[in-house]
Formats: sequence, structure tokens, C-alpha cells
Amino acid sequence: MKVLTLLGSAKKKGNTATALGCVEDELKSKGHEVESIYLNAKTINGCLGCAKCKEKPNEIGCVQNDDAAEILEKIIAADLTIFTTPLYFWGVTSQLKSIIDRSWSLVTNYNQPNHKSLIEGKRQALLVTGGGGYDNNAEPTFFAFKKLIKFYKGVNIGELFLGSCKTPETMDAKKKEKAIEFARKTIAL
Ligand SMILES: Cc1cc2nc3c(=O)[nH]c(=O)nc-3n(C[C@H](O)[C@H](O)[C@H](O)COP(=O)(O)O)c2cc1C
Repeated sequence: MKVLTLLGSAKKKGNTATALGCVEDELKSKGHEVESIYLNAKTINGCLGCAKCKEKPNEIGCVQNDDAAEILEKIIAADLTIFTTPLYFWGVTSQLKSIIDRSWSLVTNYNQPNHKSLIEGKRQALLVTGGGGYDNNAEPTFFAFKKLIKFYKGVNIGELFLGSCKTPETMDAKKKEKAIEFARKTIAL
């Protein structure tokens, strides 16, 4: 399977990157092709909401000229995209949010009978780390992700929240095992 991972943390060796590392190692060990994008190094402007992309339902068609188009092309080409982020104020980081907003260009006629997506049937998964617990904290992010998958006409193949994270060094074996289980789920047939 062709897998794309999007690291939404600014920290290259933080909690999210450490958990993602476990996921990627597992996927690679099973023979999958993994490409990782460190979003913080990319220039991804906010969506202008101009709807010019809606005039070109068969392509990305965004009028902006930055790194988003290249990333969106990779999402289209991948069988599975794994979105990852630390929880920031009950939501995703601005790095991840900016590419999600720009993915508006992948879909036309949302909520209408002729709803079309350039990633219809593709797998998406979400991995989130946080300092707190799931309850009263992480739910809004997973709620929005479920909606996003419907918008994409994609397949929600896995969700993982690793709470009570402190430092990557203190990430215990149980959390790493959960990350590996999550990885296995994303490639299950
Ligand atoms: C600006 C900011 C906002 C945060 N907001 C939350 C939050 O709403 N809920 C939570 O559980 N943790 C929150 N955290 C903690 C991080 O999500 C947590 O430490 C995460 O594992 C960091 O991942 P990283 O090492 O990949 O950056 C926040 C941290 C920062 C810096």
C-alpha cells in the first residue's frame, strides 16, 4: 500500500513524531511504501474560500501557488493518508489545519446528490497526542475528523488518541503498542 503520513507537530522528535515513528516502522516492516511530510517545513497558506477550485471538479484547481498543491497531489496518489497532530486547544495544530482547509479543493458538490471527491474510497486515519485525557478534551477533534472523512467520501480506517503524554523519552511501551495496533488497523484488508 502507498502510505502518506502528515506530521502536524512542529517538533520533529516530539510525542507525535515518536508515536508516528512506531506506526511508520510497523507499516514499513509489513512491506508498505511510506512517505512522510513534515508540514511545519512547508508553506501552506490559509484557504481563501474563493471557490475557484469548484470550477474544476476533476483537478485540485486551487488558485494559490504554494506547497499545498504538491501535498494534495500526494494525498490523491496515496492509498492511505495518516494525519497526525498534537492536540492544541481541543483541536489540531495550525500546520495540519491549513492543509485540511486547503483540501476543500478535492471535493465538489458536498451535501448534494452529485457530491464528488478526488479521494473517494481512499483510506484516512488520525493519530493525536495530548497532555490531558480523551474526555472533555479530545472529542471535538475526532468528531471533526469523522465529518471530514464523509466530506472526502473516504474510509475512516483508524483513530488513535494517546493522552497524558509528557515527553517522548517517557512515552511508555503501552502507548507504543497502541501505535503499532493502530498501524495494523490502517492496513487491514
Ligand atoms: C499551544 C498548546 C496547546 C495545547 N492544548 C492542549 C489541549 O487542548 N489538550 C491537551 O490534552 N493537550 C494540549 N497541549 C499539550 C500537547 O498536545 C501535548 O504535549 C502533545 O503530546 C505534544 O506533542 P508534540 O511533542 O508532538 O508537540 C497543548 C500544547 C500546546 C503547546
